[in-house]
Amino acid sequence: MLIIAVFLSILLVGLVDVAAKGGAQSIHRPCLLLFWALVFGILFPPVFFHALLLIPIWLVWVRGHLSVRGLILCSSVAAIAPYGFFVSFAVGKHKKKEELRTQYAFESMENRVPVPQKTKRDPAIPLDESFFKQIEQQVADNTNGFRTAMLDRLHSETVRDFINSPGFGAGRRIDPSASTLAINLNRTDEVLPQPGPLPSSTLSTTDLTEPQDIWMDDFRTLHTASMLDFVYPRGFGFVVNRNKVAGFLSHGFSEPPQVKNRSLQSVVLIGLLMHAEPIAYVSNELPRMDRLAKAPTRSLNSFEELGLDEIRNGRDLFIRQGPHALHLLGAIRSVEQCVKCHGGERGDLLGAFSYSLQKKQ
Ligand code: HEC
Repeated sequence: MLIIAVFLSILLVGLVDVAAKGGAQSIHRPCLLLFWALVFGILFPPVFFHALLLIPIWLVWVRGHLSVRGLILCSSVAAIAPYGFFVSFAVGKHKKKEELRTQYAFESMENRVPVPQKTKRDPAIPLDESFFKQIEQQVADNTNGFRTAMLDRLHSETVRDFINSPGFGAGRRIDPSASTLAINLNRTDEVLPQPGPLPSSTLSTTDLTEPQDIWMDDFRTLHTASMLDFVYPRGFGFVVNRNKVAGFLSHGFSEPPQVKNRSLQSVVLIGLLMHAEPIAYVSNELPRMDRLAKAPTRSLNSFEELGLDEIRNGRDLFIRQGPHALHLLGAIRSVEQCVKCHGGERGDLLGAFSYSLQKKQ
């Protein structure tokens, strides 16, 4: 694009030369130049401004204040200003992009999260394929394609592509910028407290009974919504592979999960990846990975241990009535999109949520 623009500007000076030598000292010529400027300016802004500058120069010449040589010289010099402007504009934009590239640099997930250990899942229990497909669809519907495309463009485009882009990098194209790279992200730094008390760390199995009259679909809806809110697909960023991810925003809840006819007391993340043994993160806030990194942990209570065994054997939800709350453990398994970052295989257990619920009064 730059080469074509320069060529057109040279042609423009040539035309001025021909017109001047032809002695055409009329007002029609500037009109022709303006026409030129408009036609080519659509694609080549420097040509547009060059042609605009030629109009007053031409008028000065028409009045006889310039020789033909002077006219050609001024016409050539008039090209410097728009090109100077557009080159400095391109360099400025490039600098900003470099800053964004540093801010949204590629990082490896290898250093942040270990590959899930092989689960002890009974191979006789197949994955619930339709449930997995449904989750994958929901994750896909919640991803941020535009931001991903901007992150991709930020890292793939060179200065040369930029200068050669239509419009010489000016206007029309949507560029990666601080705002386009933050588009559709609706998270704040607000810390959300657990609505009620955390489950006891010393629940004993004798305190637990199998609840009656339970409508599992409501709990399934609760758990699916929680997983989606927590993993936050909009913040996945641009994932080339596990070793190359740009713009990832850590998982975390944005609102307390809701469930029909019950109120949530707490939701605790059971971590299987970041610690040698399964742990429960102890926090009075709804789980957020950026804050849980420093949170204390405890070993699982007997409900969580029982539940973990069950979900390792293929169950998705495990539920028991305790003395103070209804306890629900929901499996967090890897679907297609998680594998790209987490490694391992589709179906691997990445963690679980341990919910404590109260009947609504
Ligand atoms: C873009 C990369 C990326 C994607 C995609 C991703 N994760 Fe993660 N996940 C991480 C990282 C990194 C961590 C470790 C915490 C951190 O550094 O923020 C993590 C942590 C977790 C944890 C907590 C583990 C522990 O032991 O504390 C769970 C659970 C989890 N991810 C589930 C999922 C699920 C489910 C999906 C898919 C729906 C998913 N993740 C997709 C990068 C990703």
